[in-house]
Amino acid sequence: MNNFGGDWTESKIEILVEYAQAYLSIMNIYADKYNWKLLYFDGFAGSGFIEKGNDENRKVIIGATKRILDIENPRPFDRYYFVEKEPEIAEELIEKVINKYDDKIINVANTDCNEKIQSMGNFLKSKKGKNYKVLAYIDPCGMQLKWESLMALQELKVDAWILVPTGMGVNRLLKKDGKISDAWIEKLEIFLGLPKEKIIEYFYSQSVVPTLFGDEIVTNKKEKAIEKSAELYQSRLKELFKFVTNPYILKNKSNSTMFHFYMVSNNKNAVKIANEIINKYNNQ
Ligand SMILES: C[S@@+](CC[C@H](N)C(=O)[O-])C[C@H]1O[C@@H](n2cnc3c(N)ncnc32)[C@H](O)[C@@H]1O
Repeated sequence: MNNFGGDWTESKIEILVEYAQAYLSIMNIYADKYNWKLLYFDGFAGSGFIEKGNDENRKVIIGATKRILDIENPRPFDRYYFVEKEPEIAEELIEKVINKYDDKIINVANTDCNEKIQSMGNFLKSKKGKNYKVLAYIDPCGMQLKWESLMALQELKVDAWILVPTGMGVNRLLKKDGKISDAWIEKLEIFLGLPKEKIIEYFYSQSVVPTLFGDEIVTNKKEKAIEKSAELYQSRLKELFKFVTNPYILKNKSNSTMFHFYMVSNNKNAVKIANEIINKYNNQ
């Protein structure tokens, strides 16, 4: 069982499910007419159940996999593709969830999500994939999603919900004095798809301080790095997809921002609907 999450874990799943319902209602009108096939892709599927809290207030919530598989009205998806890298978690998912849906066409891939996003991009560009429309859920717990993977989905018929670890990931790697290890810089570069110089320039200011032994260049992290990383990621997403929502902001109990949750699409109406759902949850 996956063990993580605050109240936002539930809200995030509710947002996804509410959107999936709206998506399937619209697709229900057009799919048969245009011979569209509807694929649901979950890149970080988990075990199917999420454990929250400690001994006294322990709670198990149903993960997104089962919630999406349970949607029947107005119609289900035609196919489901789940990716989970950890072998034991993938096994638990199959045993406790997937095996109960033998009426559905489901694939579980026990591998890295980045690999499968690339394969999905290639498939959607192929003759066989042309009729497919995809709703994707990219829900990592850290910075596992590579920018180059998202590039594989550019200009395709994919609506994707993407969880961005702004507070949990990016901000933690951005050390105050800018002395970031090579391994962390590489992680940021792969995640943001930007070179070191651009990352440093965006998040840090440099000033010349006169000292007894001459001028020294002092590097300081700019204010509001979490918000800045969210804005940066959103603007990067806009380079790949025509439309990007405002974020749903996930905060922990101490009111610190952990993640920003976005939906991207090449369909204007899809993002309008997603924004309405996000605004509702942001205002709760
Ligand atoms: C936040 S949990 C997913 C929760 C799930 N979406 C749900 O609603 O129940 C993230 C999952 O991604 C898996 N994971 C981590 N890195 C991965 C990768 N590179 N590719 C695929 N899965 C990965 C973890 O083992 C973990 O089970």
